[in-house]
Amino acid sequence: MHITIFGTGYVGLVTGACLADVGHDVMCMDVDRDKIESLERGELPIYEPGLAAIVQRTSALGNLQFTCDPFRAVAHGAVQIIAVGTPPDETGAADLQHVLSVAESVGRHMAAPKVVVVKSTVPVGTCDQVAQRIRAVLDRHGSDLDFDVASNPEFLKEGAAVTDFQRPDRIVVGTISPRVRSVMSEIYEPFNRNHDRLLFMDVRSAELTKYAANAMLATRISFINEVADLAEHLGADIEQVRKGIGSDPRIGYDFIYAGLGYGGSCFPKDIRALLHTAGQLGCKASLIEAVEDINQRQKSRFVAKITSHYGGAHKLRGKTFAVWGLSFKPNTDDIREAPARAIIEALWNAGATVRLFDPVAHAAAIRLYGGRSDLVIAPDKYAALDGADALVLCTEWREFRAPDFREMGSRMSSRTIFDGRNLYVPERLRGEGWTYYSIGRPAVSGASDWSLPIAMSA
Ligand code: UDX
Repeated sequence: MHITIFGTGYVGLVTGACLADVGHDVMCMDVDRDKIESLERGELPIYEPGLAAIVQRTSALGNLQFTCDPFRAVAHGAVQIIAVGTPPDETGAADLQHVLSVAESVGRHMAAPKVVVVKSTVPVGTCDQVAQRIRAVLDRHGSDLDFDVASNPEFLKEGAAVTDFQRPDRIVVGTISPRVRSVMSEIYEPFNRNHDRLLFMDVRSAELTKYAANAMLATRISFINEVADLAEHLGADIEQVRKGIGSDPRIGYDFIYAGLGYGGSCFPKDIRALLHTAGQLGCKASLIEAVEDINQRQKSRFVAKITSHYGGAHKLRGKTFAVWGLSFKPNTDDIREAPARAIIEALWNAGATVRLFDPVAHAAAIRLYGGRSDLVIAPDKYAALDGADALVLCTEWREFRAPDFREMGSRMSSRTIFDGRNLYVPERLRGEGWTYYSIGRPAVSGASDWSLPIAMSA
């Protein structure tokens, strides 16, 4: 099948590479010429495990091509997949200008019937807008060519996007056209052999499914973070509570890890976009509003934990904090809406210096914060600790799970850890003389034999 993908961000590129890898003839189009030229040289704009090898292999075979030329792009695919960004505008609504400009291009350049597939995360009703835009352009050119618009949201987790694409839980397709159903079945047939994962539904339900899935997952995270707050006040341990509730198959263990809250390019943006849609419709989405509020509060509560340890924000002036982890989660260099940023910026605002280590996000850190005198980027996790008053752990990278605490202690000026991801066992750290704060668990102090009372309010 000849397929064109618009947008070479992580969704477009993963989709294009994985479809090419099973033998489809794919052309990826992007308006960013530099990006296309680097992709042609085999250089990827993002870090995504397994992706580079597939891009190189499929490019060498000729199944995956790149272009900046919209005419070539539209001519190539019987199927035109839109995977461009939908960043929030100043009101929190998804900005559809890139999606609609692709629709415009398709309408302008198409010379044969097309199936247009919207993969970008878009508000309900966008597929209808895309169809109207293409029809208007065709009308302007006096063309009566036929086309269909279907919704096919993605459910790719960054860091696992390739395997998520290759082994999907479900493939949601919004269309009521039998012809489009058969085209989409053919595209996804290689990923749909053992179990039928294709779920066909109407277009609007497919569009809403994407937002509902992300809102549900975000709700679980905010829920557990709220219970973690209660646990701190009650002297309970959220990690025990997590196991206690996760063992119920109706609840399950996934997405109930307490931490600094969700970040990344999807959850925060999608939650706000959904709230915006609800607002426009006059619907009260109180639960989703609370999910967003709790997520914001989670970061400020963590900062409050740090400041209260030192006796107030003014006491942070001149202190040095080692920060482990900047990316919004492990296995990605993506720092969009990363909770670590809010923590680091709060430390800076209080006059502290940050010594940062992240396994892959240093280039992103330099792009964002380069040139700041209160930021030191350390070559490894131990070097980040040199002379630090405390370690602040923001992302649960695997290499942070079992560090050499003796080595750590010898480098720091105080054995203090603020752990935003609950990576360590409090009792063990207390035994080794550490003062240790985490999320939803009693803080421990190695300096004496008592638990630090935590009575925090946001
Ligand atoms: C998410 C969805 O999982 C994916 O289906 C969708 O298509 C895009 O958005 P992604 O943004 O890559 O994917 O991140 P994900 O792995 O889902 O994690 C989101 C955030 O939630 C991270 O910041 C993570 O640290 C946080 N999280 C996750 C928790 O705080 N606790 C948990 O239990 C799980």
